[in-house]
Amino acid sequence: MQNINAKMPIGVFDSGVGGLSVLHEIRRLLPNEDLLYVADSGHAPYGDKSQQFIEQRSIAISEFLVSRNVKAIVVACNTATGAAIATLRSKFSVPIVAMEPAVKPAAALSKTGVIGVLATSRTLASANFVQLFARYGGDVRIEGQACPGLVEEVEAGNLSGSQSRLLLERYVLPLLERDADIIVLGCTHYPFLASLIKEIAGPTVAVIDSGAAVARELYRRLEVEQLLAGDKEEGTELFLTSGSLAQAEPIFSQLWKENVDLSALRDR
Ligand code: DGL
Repeated sequence: MQNINAKMPIGVFDSGVGGLSVLHEIRRLLPNEDLLYVADSGHAPYGDKSQQFIEQRSIAISEFLVSRNVKAIVVACNTATGAAIATLRSKFSVPIVAMEPAVKPAAALSKTGVIGVLATSRTLASANFVQLFARYGGDVRIEGQACPGLVEEVEAGNLSGSQSRLLLERYVLPLLERDADIIVLGCTHYPFLASLIKEIAGPTVAVIDSGAAVARELYRRLEVEQLLAGDKEEGTELFLTSGSLAQAEPIFSQLWKENVDLSALRDR
């Protein structure tokens, strides 16, 4: 284990701005932690890239985070989790917390016995998801729905426009026809579309994601490793992107709900 201590920041990354939905939950639960967020928007979406490409990006970003002395890494991306988590855990010694679509709580909540999972096609095809399916598929019917195009809408800050609505109707309505009463958001970009999804799904359908559970798991890991920052100073945030700064800055500020000073992730 490299020499890590409680004062170091926590590194969080995603293919783009989606991981900010997880970062909100982390900030809520851990107000004193310094957070270093990397959006790989220059390479988003990951959902239609090869497993090797996503793995290579996840390694490069994790190497960058470790070079910036993080005490833990949160893979705030379901697609990167599915494509790279085993490799990341074998390569890096810092604690790594990753995503898992909220199929377990959904299975416990469902009355119809049918749950819909919105995710990228790569997440739905990943070994992690196939295992989740096997674990809970006996109790409930799990309907996976790939959502091409949605990540691009969130990356562009279109959270309520007609194109997002059109895509979501295409993805959500078939799940309702198949009797789903819980919709699991299996991509960290989608919580930013939750209002629209709830509007389309109606009041009898619950929409859930795993951001808060990931923040709790991070808290637990830091507590076990005695790496919690303590409660003396307010935590800071640092944001980096591999995409265009001019394009990304207003969208970061929109999604983070305050003005974000964004820096470029270079040479990665
Ligand atoms: N936020 C990523 C996820 O959770 C989006 C994947 C993508 O870039 O396609 O899966």
